[in-house]
Amino acid sequence: MTNSKKKATESLAIQTKMVLPNDTNPLNTLFGGRLLEWMDEIASISAHKHSGRVVVTASINNVSFDEPIFAGEIVSLQAKVSRSYNSSMEVFVDVFVENSDGSKKKCNEAIYNFVAIDQNRNPIGVPPLVPETQEEKDRFDSALRRKQLSLVLAGRLNPEDATELKSVLFPHLK
Ligand SMILES: CC(C)(COP(=O)(O)OP(=O)(O)OC[C@H]1O[C@@H](n2cnc3c(N)ncnc32)[C@H](O)[C@@H]1OP(=O)(O)O)[C@@H](O)C(=O)NCCC(=O)NCCS
Repeated sequence: MTNSKKKATESLAIQTKMVLPNDTNPLNTLFGGRLLEWMDEIASISAHKHSGRVVVTASINNVSFDEPIFAGEIVSLQAKVSRSYNSSMEVFVDVFVENSDGSKKKCNEAIYNFVAIDQNRNPIGVPPLVPETQEEKDRFDSALRRKQLSLVLAGRLNPEDATELKSVLFPHLK
């Protein structure tokens, strides 16, 4: 199973929510912690769809709250695996507010890292990912430097060995 490639679109997971009073802060906008919870949930579903395994959140690479989301607004969360490695997967979550005319405005984005585990909680292999659209290819190509940054920050990778990251930060050292 781990050798059969899967398309990025096969991992697409979508969830629609309405911002209720219990989800808001004193400014009447969506509480950031609630959005993190929603994003973690939909991202884990996406990683599960790709791997067919139980997955755990290993780290969150980036969260940007670009636009406030107000009480009563309809929020659409779209998660898709952008790259897989041995047992780990990077998942992008794009967050949109849906307008009454059906149009969508992107408000937030987050990048999660999940690891597939077996019944003994040991990491287990996941299928390779095939990106197809230009956006999927761009996210796939830039994923390795994000993974290396994440591992360096977690103290799991010597910065000297982060070759992809170094080639972006210090291109003159190539
Ligand atoms: C994530 C976890 C499974 C890693 O287990 P581990 O025994 O340290 O495994 P390894 O060192 O062999 O790493 C396994 C994979 O995780 C990746 N990984 C580990 N930490 C990572 C991080 N901070 N960012 C990105 N990837 C990470 C490794 O790169 C490796 O990927 P690969 O197999 O695709 O090459 C383990 O730390 C864990 O269970 N953490 C708790 C997860 C959890 O409970 N999350 C919920 C939030 S409370």
